Amino acid sequence: MPRGLFITFEGLDGSGKTTQIQRLASWLKMRGQPPLVTRQPGGTATGDRIRALALDSRSTGLAPMAEMALMFADRAQAIAEVIEPALSAGNIVLCDRFTDSTEAYQGGGRELGSEAVLELHRLLASNLQPDLTLLLLPSLEASLARARRRNQRVQEQAGADENRFEQEKDAFYSRVWQKYREIAAREPARVALVEGDLSIDQVHERVVAAVSARLGAKGIESRGNAAACASAGL
Ligand code: TYD
Repeated sequence: MPRGLFITFEGLDGSGKTTQIQRLASWLKMRGQPPLVTRQPGGTATGDRIRALALDSRSTGLAPMAEMALMFADRAQAIAEVIEPALSAGNIVLCDRFTDSTEAYQGGGRELGSEAVLELHRLLASNLQPDLTLLLLPSLEASLARARRRNQRVQEQAGADENRFEQEKDAFYSRVWQKYREIAAREPARVALVEGDLSIDQVHERVVAAVSARLGAKGIESRGNAAACASAGL
């Protein structure tokens, strides 16, 4: 059984990853290649508990190193339980965030540096590398404006969970953004950078172009109806 394809999505909070993953999943399904869709943190029962701990705004005073360790604990579980079995069975896996998020948020945002993240990735995540990473990176200004709008919503929704990161300041997001750019420049063969303030359809077109190229390079043929995809605008 040939190994499947591991595709990750990255970007700042509110970069439209979730919409794009859903659109790509539908496109793959139409081609007869339904993917396994997962996310980090989360995606397993243990991971969901880690997610609650890491993202809950009531987790005050979480040390940056503890935060990074939680992200890798979640990842190690997801690789063992979900990602590796799916890839070994020849499936396409779409993962909303992976180690690039840890490098950008903990390495960049929290200023722990890339080296610690990459070292932990080797130790705890078997140095698993995505075949393709779609990095959705609107301009820093648009990203910050989105983060600010989210912060405002957070303040209005008393008691809302999963907001710990969204309460961060502009300087934090600016470091995350810079680190993402650094990763893209360092690994151009793996990372497809989708830059600029584009429409959902424009981003989808670029995502599909990058994924098609990778499927072709791996010799993974469509098992579905390409004409149906075209007529459905996918
Ligand atoms: P997610 O729910 O995917 O947020 P969004 O839908 O806004 O993209 O991710 C939750 C948060 O967790 C996000 O702010 C980024 C953060 N995060 C890290 O800081 N490090 C990591 O390794 C991962 C996977 C996520």
